[in-house]
Amino acid sequence: MSKHHRLPATVSALAADGPHTDAAEGTLAGDVMRGLSALPKQLSSKYFYDAQGSRLFERIMRLPAYYPTRVEARLLRRHARALLAALTPTGAPMELLELGSGDGRKTLALCREWLKAGASLSYRPMDISAQALERLGQRATRQLPALSVHPLCGDYFQTWPLPQARRHQVALFLGSNLGNFTDAEANRFLRRVRAHLRPGDSLMLGLDLRKDPSTVLAAYDDPEGVTAAFNLNLLRRLNRELGMDFDLAAFRHYASYCPLQGVARSFLVSLRAQSVHSRVLGQSFGFEPGEVIYTEQSQKYERAGVEAMASQCGFALHAWFEDPELPYALVVCRAKA
Ligand SMILES: C[S@@+](CC[C@H](N)C(=O)[O-])C[C@H]1O[C@@H](n2cnc3c(N)ncnc32)[C@H](O)[C@@H]1O
Repeated sequence: MSKHHRLPATVSALAADGPHTDAAEGTLAGDVMRGLSALPKQLSSKYFYDAQGSRLFERIMRLPAYYPTRVEARLLRRHARALLAALTPTGAPMELLELGSGDGRKTLALCREWLKAGASLSYRPMDISAQALERLGQRATRQLPALSVHPLCGDYFQTWPLPQARRHQVALFLGSNLGNFTDAEANRFLRRVRAHLRPGDSLMLGLDLRKDPSTVLAAYDDPEGVTAAFNLNLLRRLNRELGMDFDLAAFRHYASYCPLQGVARSFLVSLRAQSVHSRVLGQSFGFEPGEVIYTEQSQKYERAGVEAMASQCGFALHAWFEDPELPYALVVCRAKA
């Protein structure tokens, strides 16, 4: 994997796995206190997903410019049977654990194909957003009543379901979510997933690959302004949950893409000098004109780097399905002994 930026992590709540500096780490209050006191200021992308944030993300996934969802869905459709064979080579009953499932739309379509192919499977979507899981549950009942679905609301860095005996575990991490982590965070995440699997269990990653920089940038800066609304909604959430007084009109969404590092980044830019206070934290935070809050990174990968990272984290790359039109990959890995 190429080395990229030295900016601080967009804090993907890996705190639960790493050294603890205080008890509030990994909580909204603790992360916001630390993030807005840092230089540059930063907020974890996991806090995007309140009820409104989850709804906005579902709109983003339908935007013409937001290619990752479309391309990933196309790959899942085209290769459904080959994926089943690659993920469960013995044909044993499968427990499908999806990390950060969101609305699960793509996965339910995949499950439908797998059930048609005679697979025995149970689906365990996991997400921090209760609203996303609720919508997923309703969709599953409507569209796939035969599928056994066991949603789990929680943070995948803090909780993990007990594996079912005699079922082949398949962990899914779609939507190029891994790209929201820095290399070090992605490493810790994959090691954590590996630690919960048994040798021979499988992991499937959906990963966005390097491509025309303008295509990437357009995905994070749509003309409809939905991504901007999604980014700004983070401030609305802090106003509501931490008694803050962010003036949303005084911040603007800004997206960039660095083709050298293969990283798209999203920021909220302060349009003037201002001070924002939190009643809950009992703290004010000053902003210079043009100062940014770094809210999200999206790494674009190359195959060699993915292979090396998987291997370092206890996985062997088993199969690689790549879209011929727009570089994006479904990567099947096996947990090494
Ligand atoms: C970018 S969306 C992707 C959704 C889905 N995987 C897809 O491909 O459409 C990220 C999802 O991960 C969830 N999420 C983010 N951080 C999480 C965490 N630490 N634990 C569990 N879920 C998380 C969010 O609520 C959101 O639904």
